[in-house]
Amino acid sequence: MGSIKRIAINTGGGDAPGLNAVIRAAVLAAANRGWEAYGIRDGFNGIFFPERYPEGGVFRLTRDRVRGIAHLGGTVLGTTNQGNPLQYPLKMPDGTVKQVDRTGEILETFAKKQIDALISIGGDGSLTIAHALAKQGLKVVCVPKTIDNDLDKTFTTFGFDTAVSFATECLDRLHTTAESHQRIMVVEMMGRYAGWIALHSGISGGAHAILLPELPFDLDKVVEKIRQRERVGRVYSLIVVAEGARVIDGQRAVLAPAEVGKAERLGGIGEQVARALSERTGKDTRTVVLGHLVRGGSPTSFDRLAALRFGAAAVRALDEGHSNVMVSLAFPNVQYVPLEEVAGRMKAVPLDCDTLITGRDMGICFGD
Ligand code: F6P
Repeated sequence: MGSIKRIAINTGGGDAPGLNAVIRAAVLAAANRGWEAYGIRDGFNGIFFPERYPEGGVFRLTRDRVRGIAHLGGTVLGTTNQGNPLQYPLKMPDGTVKQVDRTGEILETFAKKQIDALISIGGDGSLTIAHALAKQGLKVVCVPKTIDNDLDKTFTTFGFDTAVSFATECLDRLHTTAESHQRIMVVEMMGRYAGWIALHSGISGGAHAILLPELPFDLDKVVEKIRQRERVGRVYSLIVVAEGARVIDGQRAVLAPAEVGKAERLGGIGEQVARALSERTGKDTRTVVLGHLVRGGSPTSFDRLAALRFGAAAVRALDEGHSNVMVSLAFPNVQYVPLEEVAGRMKAVPLDCDTLITGRDMGICFGD
C-alpha cells in the first residue's frame, strides 16, 4: 500500500454506455487519494502513435476534465477494437503483414512517465492484454465492459442494461406496426457469440420467437409457432435473432471475415431468417437490424451506478495492493477476481438459466 502516485486509464474494444462514468469515478477516487490520473488515447494508440495527438497521446485527467461526463455515452478517451498490442499487425515493405508484440513499448512509456499502474476498461480482448502486461510486472486492474454481457465471473458488465433497455423499447414499438400490417418482423441484435441481449430484450419486449447463438435453431419450429399464432387470430409475429445465431448444421452469418488484428464482423442472419420465413409462410416480412444503436446513448441508472462503483473499486483495489485482477459485481458488492480466471473465457447463456426457462413457460419459441 501507499506505493501508487500516478495511474493511467484506457478504454479498449467496442464502446459501451458507462465508460465515461468509470473514468470519472476512477479519476475522482484517485484525486481524493492525492494521486495523479492520466488518460491514454484510443486503446494504446496514444502510446504507439503520440504524434497523432496534439494534446499528447497520454494526457492528464484532472477533476475538471471529468466534470459532467458520467451520463454521456461513448468514451472521452476514444477506443479501438483493432491493433492488439500482443499481436500488432505491422505492414512490411514487401506488402505482407507481420504480427509483433508491442507490450514492451507500453511498459517503457509507463516507466518513463513514472506511471505506477493501469486501469484498463474493456472486454475480453482488453482482459487478455492486461493479463499479459501484469505478468510482465505492470500493476493492472481491469473493469469489465461490454454490451454483450459475455464476460465470466461478474453478474453483469456495464453497458448491457442500457443495450437491453433500448432493444426492449424498439420491440415495444415494432409490435404495433407489425400487427397493423399483419407482418412478421425479424429483429437482429448484437451480442457476438452470446445471446444475452437477444434473450433479455426478447423476453421483456414480448417476442414470439428468440433465436440464440447458444441454441442452433430449426426454422420449422419458428414456422410452426407463427402458424399456431395465426390459428388463434394473432396475425403478426415478432422474431428476435441474435447476430451470432445459426440454423442447425448451418454457418454463422459473417459480414466480413477475420483479418490480422481484426475480429470477424457478424451480421445478416436477420435477413436470411426473414426471407426463409416469408417463403415458407407466404407472409409479408421485414427485417430490422438494431446494430450499433444499442451501443449509443446515455447509460441507464443501473449501468451508470455499476460503472461508477467499478471505477471507484478499481482505484480501491490498487490502493489495497491488488493487481492482475478484474473488479466484478457479485451482489450486493463488488469483488476482485484474478485475471487468469476470466481472461479468454466467454460467458454464454446457460440453457438451463431461469430467464430462458421463463421464456419457455411463457410459450416463446427458441427454435428447438
Ligand atoms: O462486442 C460489442 C459489439 O457491439 C458486438 O455486439 C458486435 O458484434 C461488435 O461489437 C461490433 O463491432 P464493431 O464496432 O467493430 O462493428
